[in-house]
Amino acid sequence: MTEKEKAVGKEHVEGKEKGTGKKIYLGTNTKMYKTIGDTCTYLKALKELTADISEEQAELFVIPSFTSLAAAREILQDSGIRLGAQNMCWEDQGQFTGEISPLMLKELAIDLVEIGHSERRHVFGETDQEERKKVTAAVRHGFQALLCVGETLEQKEYGISDEVLRMQLKVGLHDMTAENGGNLMIAYEPVWAIGVHGIPAGEEYVNQRHRVMKQTLKELLGEEAAWEIPVLYGGSVNPGNAVPLMRQPYVDGLFIGRSAWDAHDFNRLIRSVLEAQA
Ligand code: 13P
Repeated sequence: MTEKEKAVGKEHVEGKEKGTGKKIYLGTNTKMYKTIGDTCTYLKALKELTADISEEQAELFVIPSFTSLAAAREILQDSGIRLGAQNMCWEDQGQFTGEISPLMLKELAIDLVEIGHSERRHVFGETDQEERKKVTAAVRHGFQALLCVGETLEQKEYGISDEVLRMQLKVGLHDMTAENGGNLMIAYEPVWAIGVHGIPAGEEYVNQRHRVMKQTLKELLGEEAAWEIPVLYGGSVNPGNAVPLMRQPYVDGLFIGRSAWDAHDFNRLIRSVLEAQA
């Protein structure tokens, strides 16, 4: 880390600790786990539990299944919890059976869309070029695109994690300019850290990768946009590592799976992070 980066990091951490720094982001992707009924029960509880948390303190977001979005929209109408979609097609309409168009999401007043989650890339074979088309379409339609990136275990063992992250960002954000900074969010989710068999990444390791990503964003979009774009960490976040991860200078938020799927668990995790910043 250079002296300048250390200073920026220090300022960022101090800012976060004093509650005067950048906003923090805490979100969950419920993957293919909750039915409409499950999602409604979960969101009603989460909304009540987190009602006193202001949007300035933290941006909370939930990304449920497509089938739950309409009901979830109703429940979250007058709450600070933001709603997102798990995926989106790059075309507005056409012969794309099984896909969801940006127009269909806009109809539900969705303004956040997750793109390129590890499971989309590795189970369904999505490529960097496809993620680029989705990011571009999302931004064109005014969504905030949450682009997920992350290396596999094999890539980590070859020592090419940073190269992989740089490539995923450079291709995924290829059509973006500095003006699009406010429409972007990044989640670093190392493939080996995600899910039941995942090994949580150490906070130092995470911070180093986030630093490389910030640097890449700076190269691509300029300094201002790079600091504006939140970079979240995801992959086996749990009550034990959430606070140490959030203390890292380059970590702006957490993207959580299993540890957030119970409203009380998620609320406890959110509170622990907020208390640590107070
Ligand atoms: P886990 O927290 O269950 O590892 O999942 C992380 C994730 O994939 C969030 O998108």
